[in-house]
Amino acid sequence: MEKVFFGKTSWGKDTYKYYLENKNGMRVAFTDMGACVMEVWVKDKAGTLRDVVLGYDDVLSYEKSGTYFGAIVGRYANRIAGARFELNGREYCLEQNDHENSLHSGSKGMARKVWDVVTHEKTKIVFHCVTAEDDFPGTASCDVTYELTDENALCISYDAVCDEDSPFNMTNHAYFNLNGHDGGNVLEHQLMIRAAAYTPLKPVGSIPTGEIADVVGTPFDFRVAKPIGRDIDADFAQIRYGSGYDHNFVIEKQNDGMEKFAEAYSEVSGIVMEAFTDCVGVQLYTGNFVNDPGKHGVHYDPRAGFCLETQFFPNAINEPTFLSPVVRAGEHYRSQTVYRFSTK
Ligand code: GLA
Repeated sequence: MEKVFFGKTSWGKDTYKYYLENKNGMRVAFTDMGACVMEVWVKDKAGTLRDVVLGYDDVLSYEKSGTYFGAIVGRYANRIAGARFELNGREYCLEQNDHENSLHSGSKGMARKVWDVVTHEKTKIVFHCVTAEDDFPGTASCDVTYELTDENALCISYDAVCDEDSPFNMTNHAYFNLNGHDGGNVLEHQLMIRAAAYTPLKPVGSIPTGEIADVVGTPFDFRVAKPIGRDIDADFAQIRYGSGYDHNFVIEKQNDGMEKFAEAYSEVSGIVMEAFTDCVGVQLYTGNFVNDPGKHGVHYDPRAGFCLETQFFPNAINEPTFLSPVVRAGEHYRSQTVYRFSTK
């Protein structure tokens, strides 16, 4: 199995780059720093491989990344208002790294850890980490499995357990650009999201109001595919609060299992990405604050990629009207998200 040295973290730990490959020549690269997805090589309509995710060339950039390119984010992805929550009568205080809120669990989160690799086969890799020092309850043991199928699907499975009751909200923060990571902005990409509602934000700090709002007649209506850029700068308060799309959508679910919730397409490359999950929400983030030196000397400007971060709703731990992200001691938090690639 292909594995190459990737460099040392700021604290001197060796990191590696790992590859998976399927029988069609689709290749995906990962690093154990943050269990990140680094490269996703898929064939375009001409049969040429394109790397469709943003990333960096060196481990230190992943370690301090404010954009979380490709990272596994946990124990709690997205925001927790006031960086605090109460559980079983106890107050838990987290790092305030986004105004007074917690975002992506801050500097002690899973994106900042070097994970262990417990399995590495041709089409499957399993990352493992234990976290106790992250200000959340107890000690949590987490596995993330990435599997590359011969149907060109990248499947991400989360399995975590804690010795105390704990919230869990794990996601992957890949930024896709179906023209290639060096393909400019994603404003012309067509995007469909199966969501009739979204969770509007308060004017400051990007915390949901608690309301579930209809997408009809708003820039948030992606039920029929439209270019990502069509309404991204609309004169609409919610769009201004996020400087574009940086909002959670309520996935229209038919059952409790895996369902298709989104499809993206770029006419330039002909690449289609279908997305499936068993989660209730997805954050559409259009890279509004991206301004990063990326892979192979490419500079990524704002909107160079888009994220579909499957999740519980932001701040669900403090918002009684949202589905609770709390998992009881000894019970398993499990979820799955799949990104499947094809061309047309
Ligand atoms: C999420 C947030 C964004 C931004 C990115 C990372 O998508 O909602 O505001 O923080 O992560 O930069």
